[in-house]
Amino acid sequence: MTKAARGAAAQPLDPELIRKVNRALLAWYAATARPLKIRERTDPYSVLVSEVMAQQTQISRVDQLATAFLARFPTLESLAAAETADVLVAWKGLGYNRRALALQRAAAAAVAAGGLPPSVDALVELPGIGPYTARAVAAIAFGGREIPVDVNIARIVSRLVDADAPLSPREVQLRANEFGAELADGEAGSWAQAAMDLASLTCRAAAPKCDECPLRDSCPSAGRAFTKVPRSGEARTPFTKTARWLRGRLLDELREAGRAGVQVTGVRGEHNEAAVAATISKMVSEGLAESLGGDRYRLPHRGD
Ligand code: ADE
Repeated sequence: MTKAARGAAAQPLDPELIRKVNRALLAWYAATARPLKIRERTDPYSVLVSEVMAQQTQISRVDQLATAFLARFPTLESLAAAETADVLVAWKGLGYNRRALALQRAAAAAVAAGGLPPSVDALVELPGIGPYTARAVAAIAFGGREIPVDVNIARIVSRLVDADAPLSPREVQLRANEFGAELADGEAGSWAQAAMDLASLTCRAAAPKCDECPLRDSCPSAGRAFTKVPRSGEARTPFTKTARWLRGRLLDELREAGRAGVQVTGVRGEHNEAAVAATISKMVSEGLAESLGGDRYRLPHRGD
């Protein structure tokens, strides 16, 4: 079918293309899936934890750190009931620490509701759970058929449908679900994880290795050249100059300090006193730190 005939993402995809892509992708995954420890755990809580961790952290790092986190908080209930300070200590090394707070809030809401629900619609109602995480948990842990779409899966789906222009998030999800609808129960989780592997190993953003791709015979974008997207000015800022560095550094100090807390004053690296003071106040307002009066702070604890 030509692009003109297909129109602006309106017509359904060719069922034969969908079937060929699905079978080739699942066969490739069965033969070559990256041996990640997180993939050995398919209970909903473990999948929720690893998918929240994987959102902004490299999967190899997630794979190393998720095991210890799950050993410390083995169930939804244990995470919901934990001291937030302990959750933030266990989150060390993963970065973007607000995700740990959101994960604990989601766990508390799920416990109150009687457990993690199986449907995307109910999962997405939990605090801090977005469409990607809801679909990942539904597909990997509950056999749901909606494909979780992150930036990598969006790239694969866009290439498979030969999109001329970037598709909107809604269009990509609809297209991805066309592939999901052809799958059997339980296959969408494997499809999504296969696509994640493909995106990182083969179907790269700038220089895809189409010769090695299991979907090359079906993919209308096979062999096309993709230009490298220039990095923004912000991406070139040395990490130690960023707010993220400072937040991570202060959070590590709070982790080290334990319940007694620590004085947070003065400069940190290239960040002046005012920046340090503003950052720790922001962390208090976000629930990442607790003020003990004066300039003392600690991780959030219940009681004294
Ligand atoms: N990124 C997010 N979730 C993942 C998973 N389950 N496997 C590989 N990469 C991922």
